[in-house]
Amino acid sequence: MSVSKEQFGTTKDGVGVTKFTITNKNGMSISLLDFGAIVQAIHVPDKNGKTADIALGFDDIAGYEVNNCYFGAFVGRHANRIGGAFFDLNGTGYQLQKNDGENNLHGGDPGFHKVMYRGDTAGESSVYFERVSPNGEQGFPGAMEVKVTYTLTDDNEFKIEYFARSDADTIYNPTNHTYFNFLGHDGGDITKHEVEINADAITESGVGLIPNGNFIQVEGTPFDFRQSKKVFLDIEADDEQLKNAGGYDHNFCLKKQPREYGYAGKVFEETTGRGMEIYTDLPGMQFYTGNFIGNEKGKDGAVYTKRTGMCFETQFFPNAVNVPAFTSCYLPKGEAFNSTTVYKFSW
Ligand code: GLA
Repeated sequence: MSVSKEQFGTTKDGVGVTKFTITNKNGMSISLLDFGAIVQAIHVPDKNGKTADIALGFDDIAGYEVNNCYFGAFVGRHANRIGGAFFDLNGTGYQLQKNDGENNLHGGDPGFHKVMYRGDTAGESSVYFERVSPNGEQGFPGAMEVKVTYTLTDDNEFKIEYFARSDADTIYNPTNHTYFNFLGHDGGDITKHEVEINADAITESGVGLIPNGNFIQVEGTPFDFRQSKKVFLDIEADDEQLKNAGGYDHNFCLKKQPREYGYAGKVFEETTGRGMEIYTDLPGMQFYTGNFIGNEKGKDGAVYTKRTGMCFETQFFPNAVNVPAFTSCYLPKGEAFNSTTVYKFSW
């Protein structure tokens, strides 16, 4: 195991950005930026030993300063949507940015993926990024210490550990927004990948993809991924939920205790033999098939379009702060928030 460091250009404000790369003994590597705590590249061999970068993203910092699709993003303070961009905490209302119609998406812009962190290595296989998110940032209460630690093991596990602590009652719902394409980041359409998701139900979404509080049992629907199936099989089905989202862009209710660490799902691409398993201690996972990617100029001259990458965003259910029946993302003053998600690769 080793971690190397190199310059990755400068921001438009003239701040130098560092790229950290963790490499394991099997030839897998993960590259990370102290700008946005971005996952910039994931190099994985295939069954014939040919390595490719399987994460969509950019070659330069200018790309990440725009990054409308959240390529490789550390998302905070709140992943996914908050209905009406508003929530009430302890009798006080908090108005957030309406950056997705009437709703808040991923905390607002600029989000946690567009700010600088203090980054450092921790041992031979980890890199961490930390900062203090000021009180009122994006409209959320509390000055919050934020830390995300990325580890690559010799078992090909990419481990993401989130830590936070706030000086006032607040909410916190971080996620990672890496877009995977196991053919390679420039491999095009992802719908021939096989996906399994450990969920009997999804949260039904209404207008603006906000969960309306109902659950849909996946049995007999296009959302049944309880056994691996190719994504293309049902993605164009005549189904209102799919049509509203232009494909899969839904929160799956993972079949485990909400904060218990357990299996969330897996992906497999048969021509390369590459795949991964996903584990998390969060209650939900947004499966997003990149329906909104539109002609993004990415790494090595690649152009990413609709459904050329997919995300497995582990998280508290969308809009949980406004739905009492959902596991809460409430973070009391002074209490440590800890959460772990693992993407375990194979080929
Ligand atoms: C999440 C959302 C999608 C989309 C992307 C960012 O996955 O659920 O609807 O907004 O982020 O493009």
